[in-house]
Amino acid sequence: MRSKYGKTFKFYIGLDMNVMLCEPARIDQIFNSTVIINKSKYYDMLKPWLGDGLLISGGKKWKQRRKLITPSFHFKILENFVNVFNSAGGVLIDQLSKEVGKESVDIYEILNLYTLDVICETAMGVQINAQTEKFTPYATAVRKFCEMVVYRVFHPLGWNDTVFRMFSSEYKSYNESVTLLHDVTRKVIKTRKALYANQASDNNREDDFGRKKTFALLDLLLTTADAKDLTDEDIEEEINTFIFEGHDTTSAALAFILYELSKNSSVQSKLYEEIIEHFGHTMTSNLTIKDISDLKYLDMVCKEGLRMYPSVPFVMRKVEEEFVLDGITIPRDTILTVLIFMLHYDPDIYPNPEEFIPERFSVENQMKRGPYDYVPFSAGARNCVGQKFAIYEIKTTIIKIIQKFEVLPAPDYKKVLGFMAVLKPKNGVEVRLKLRDNEHGIGSN
Ligand code: HEM
Repeated sequence: MRSKYGKTFKFYIGLDMNVMLCEPARIDQIFNSTVIINKSKYYDMLKPWLGDGLLISGGKKWKQRRKLITPSFHFKILENFVNVFNSAGGVLIDQLSKEVGKESVDIYEILNLYTLDVICETAMGVQINAQTEKFTPYATAVRKFCEMVVYRVFHPLGWNDTVFRMFSSEYKSYNESVTLLHDVTRKVIKTRKALYANQASDNNREDDFGRKKTFALLDLLLTTADAKDLTDEDIEEEINTFIFEGHDTTSAALAFILYELSKNSSVQSKLYEEIIEHFGHTMTSNLTIKDISDLKYLDMVCKEGLRMYPSVPFVMRKVEEEFVLDGITIPRDTILTVLIFMLHYDPDIYPNPEEFIPERFSVENQMKRGPYDYVPFSAGARNCVGQKFAIYEIKTTIIKIIQKFEVLPAPDYKKVLGFMAVLKPKNGVEVRLKLRDNEHGIGSN
């Protein structure tokens, strides 16, 4: 439709008018509008798990929560989370080491369990060991829910709650998953609250391995004075929102970046050189934000990865009052969709958009483009609150993987993109892993 009708076009889904666009000047007006702030009804499919958390809520509630939650992603707190990326990253490297020498490995599958471990520890302070124990009931329930969101958008039996409950064969296992997801978060909140009530500072506790326990997003919500009016249900919906937004998005981005590195050996070599120059050959087990931020080429690689594979490929807003966009009147009740994916593939902005060229994001090249030419984390008031968290997690993980392994293309693998609540590979991401030569030049497969 974009190639047939241009960069702004409309169509109907049933009786709903949808206006879709991918022009930077118009995106600027939408993201910076103070009236087009609420989400479209399609986000409601997420409600059974996320309730009315930050991603979905609107109006006054969203404004208050956003103000409350933004400080949770402060530099100092993120520094604490980088320790989690380091420790879970160590487990990831062990898991990947088992795959060395095989014809191919689905790296997406492994990364997805890794990011789930990371988000559960940073959001709830709980280690679910998804990487080592694989399909724990929690990890399975998260996966089931995400699959069902897509099923419910595209399958007529999923559209209406009653029809879904009465006629879909998927309902039973879906409902069990939703119940389990709620039970786990509720239990964690209850336990944590009891600890604070007994004034036993959880902050200094150690886990089973003697590591200092992570001061999680949940702890912030339980201890910040401004958050004292939040009920258990309020806290639960925010924690569940972090878990949903914070794991599939990062694992898909990571897997796609590694896929592009496997296909672009000169980019990978340049990145490897930068990593070795900063950290040497010895595995880096305690990276800091400062370490991560020093790597300029890594920054370009990640930005180009998120250009080609924006984990959230479009965002939708509800027009609640008639709105004039560049002289076009958009009537009330229209759904406005910003096509981030199409924007990032616009050849007028990114020549040869299908090619992975990190140099597009050199400082000089970025200065030639406008601020709304690249919006993987959206922009304006409703931008991604976890943006820095995501970037640090992606960068830490790439450093660890590239320092240890050469990532090579897998024979016969053809990437197929899919939309399953986020942009994901439909058929996994297959690569081949080879151990890097050590500093004495002795290599191993
Ligand atoms: C590569 C990783 C990520 C990408 C590309 C991404 C992208 C986005 C985008 C485009 C939005 C706007 C959605 C909309 O308007 O409908 C968003 C919102 C949000 N993201 Fe992320 N995200 C990522 C990771 C994370 C992480 C790690 C967290 C939390 C730990 C997170 C938490 C949120 C939340 C809570 C919102 C809702 C913000 C609001 O409406 O005020 N995201 N994200």
